[in-house]
Amino acid sequence: MVIKAEIHCHIEGAASPALVQSQAVKYGVDVSGIIQDGAFVWSDFTEFLKCYDGAADLFRSAEDYALLAESYLTELSASDCIYSEFFISTDHARMIGIPEQDYIDGLAHGITAARTKTGIEARMIATGLRHEGPASVMRAAQYVAENPHPLITGFGMGGDERMHHPKDLAPGFEVARAAGLGITTHAGELDGPSSVRDSLDYIKPSRIGHGVRAIEDPDLVKRLADEGIVLECCPGSNISLNVFDSFANHSFMALREAGVQVTLNSDDPPHFHTSLAREYEIGAREFGLSDAELTEITRTALDAAFVDEDTRAALKARLGAA
Ligand code: ADE
Ligand code: ZN
Repeated sequence: MVIKAEIHCHIEGAASPALVQSQAVKYGVDVSGIIQDGAFVWSDFTEFLKCYDGAADLFRSAEDYALLAESYLTELSASDCIYSEFFISTDHARMIGIPEQDYIDGLAHGITAARTKTGIEARMIATGLRHEGPASVMRAAQYVAENPHPLITGFGMGGDERMHHPKDLAPGFEVARAAGLGITTHAGELDGPSSVRDSLDYIKPSRIGHGVRAIEDPDLVKRLADEGIVLECCPGSNISLNVFDSFANHSFMALREAGVQVTLNSDDPPHFHTSLAREYEIGAREFGLSDAELTEITRTALDAAFVDEDTRAALKARLGAA
């Protein structure tokens, strides 16, 4: 048994087709455009984002979000995961017309319920949506800076990284950093090394979501290793989205061997037919990692987690005791 931790998962993207279908019944919505034969359907990244938004649209109250977080974390805990950090998007709350605070309180309620039941620890990372532009990122940052929540400990950005330059998106991250939040951003997934380099230069994160296309530039790989930037790798997601054509050609092991700190994560698990457990299995089967090496990856995630030092020490003690 390998103890696991996850630091990159989008909560709306973690809703299973079965849960989305039951929400669709609750709200009388037809989801046949996004779910067929019990699975999400999309063809490329742009379509994936539409499918993601279609699923997110069915979570419309604090109770819905509590159910989503509790279900996700309970399932994660059953696969020996002791810590989860997931992305939230106050823009999604705005899109469905519920107050940001209801959205956050619902998710926090789900976290507390799952922790009480299973012992799993969790934190939230607020995000701006890159394709919505600098104003979206600034709005999300200002909201969490002005309405701090003890379980929101990080700030990040998802969405289409082919749009907008990090230089223009950086001001929102400065607001979040000044509020004491840990900083991460998606880069080097759909776009190449320049997106990672520009993110490091302008956004100055301690972690990068994906970052796996950094492999195309050896100087950048060295920089990631030298600066101790942690990559939130999601190999199953990358194969589904055709970032790499096979696990054999995935950059995970080359990055690790070059001294870059890498972790394993599920991203949007049911959309990519994965789970955190499957990502660890990919680590073992496709990348040849031993249980001890997988445990080191969990340790890297805990070292990089956006938590207070007492919580980090308690989590690492649980890992050490296992
Ligand atoms: N939002 C949800 N999943 C994402 C991904 N894999 N990349 C960028 N933004 C996302
Ligand atoms: Zn992601």
